[in-house]
Amino acid sequence: MQQLEVCELFAGVGGFRLGLEKTGRYNIVWSNQWEPSTKTQHASMVYEARFGAKNHSNANIEDVPTSEIPDHDILVGGFPCQDYSVATTLKNSKGLIGKKGVLWWSIHRILSEKKNKPKYLFLENVDRLLKSPSTQRGRDFAVMLRSLSNLGYAVEWRVINAAEYGMPQRRRRVFFLAYHKSTAIFEALQDSNPSDWVLSDGTIASTFPVEHHKKVFHSLELEEDLASLSEHFNAEKGPSPFLNSGVCVEGRVVTLKTKPVYDGPRAVLGDVLENGSADPSLFIHEESLPKWEYLKGSKKEIRKTKAGFEYKYSEGSMMFPDAINQPSRTIITGEGGKSPSRFKHVVQTSKGPRRLSPVELERLNMFPDNHTFLEGISDTKRAFFMGNALVVGIVEKIGAALFHKIDQVEKQF
Ligand SMILES: C[S@@+](CC[C@H](N)C(=O)[O-])C[C@H]1O[C@@H](n2cnc3c(N)ncnc32)[C@H](O)[C@@H]1O
Repeated sequence: MQQLEVCELFAGVGGFRLGLEKTGRYNIVWSNQWEPSTKTQHASMVYEARFGAKNHSNANIEDVPTSEIPDHDILVGGFPCQDYSVATTLKNSKGLIGKKGVLWWSIHRILSEKKNKPKYLFLENVDRLLKSPSTQRGRDFAVMLRSLSNLGYAVEWRVINAAEYGMPQRRRRVFFLAYHKSTAIFEALQDSNPSDWVLSDGTIASTFPVEHHKKVFHSLELEEDLASLSEHFNAEKGPSPFLNSGVCVEGRVVTLKTKPVYDGPRAVLGDVLENGSADPSLFIHEESLPKWEYLKGSKKEIRKTKAGFEYKYSEGSMMFPDAINQPSRTIITGEGGKSPSRFKHVVQTSKGPRRLSPVELERLNMFPDNHTFLEGISDTKRAFFMGNALVVGIVEKIGAALFHKIDQVEKQF
């Protein structure tokens, strides 16, 4: 096997592409990125500047006909966590009525309509997906797993915090791999002991080792009818049954609580700081320091809603400035810009406290320096891209492990 052909959805500035290309085992044959909230398509501009405009689509994925998407071996992407509820299934077809604007259903549509379905999927989401919505915990993930089962895919998933495997940012995301029933890995997973797959034999375990935590596990069966599953899943309003690792084959889920096993080197925030003089706009002026201190500090106060209702508000303090001998906190989309904030990072330097530069934010996601640098793209936008992106090192490792697994398992069968 030479290389796998990849289709990258919700591409942003190309985090998946960077990680996969680093392995030398993947060739991106088509990508799509469209930002609904702005006229100028900044992320797509960066993507095209780095990787070329050929085979890149800058259109709402909901409007892209499946016929325009070339056949590929693996579909990848980080899609938004939204409400995946299913109102009703169309009587005489496989068609589903998922809400317009809910992008899980765009992935679903492509997988349903493609005659040559991709053999593998590699997806990423916020870990909140395992527990949402709050009124019916775990329902959205259940709908997603069962719809993949119905489309012929077995899934393994894991919540990974990049810092727990030595990377410089505490960014926790859920990663999924799905294997179509036409593949040897599907068969291997189907024949395996599910706990062994999660703990040692699976693709993710081979590159991000774990151990079983306090032997906590659940198994459950997801009903096939998505509309009914969506209506009834956890209607008793208990906690989500989904733990941080698991597998799902033909609607049968085994999920385990695992904890990372890692004793390699550990990168910290201090490692990504640029040497030399930082841009003056990053420094915090003395007059705004009290506002920063207030926002970062602990508080217990009475606040008013817009409608005039009073409520008690309290929160603990954040470390201020941030510790440079530890991995950073999660970068969020609002990390850029001058205005004081509870969540932006601030580091102490010999010239005073300052925010992080765009290059430092790129390094926290293990992107190449200045990947997002482009005429006409502000530093605030560059920070926004990194808040939306992922830690490239995770994609690289899972990508390499997947290629290896395919190679190994296909030979056995
Ligand atoms: C979580 S981010 C993924 C970022 C990406 N993994 C990266 O490394 O930059 C989701 C992306 O989906 C894009 N998006 C949102 N709605 C979309 C739509 N309807 N069609 C295509 N892309 C969309 C957003 O603009 C955003 O860049």
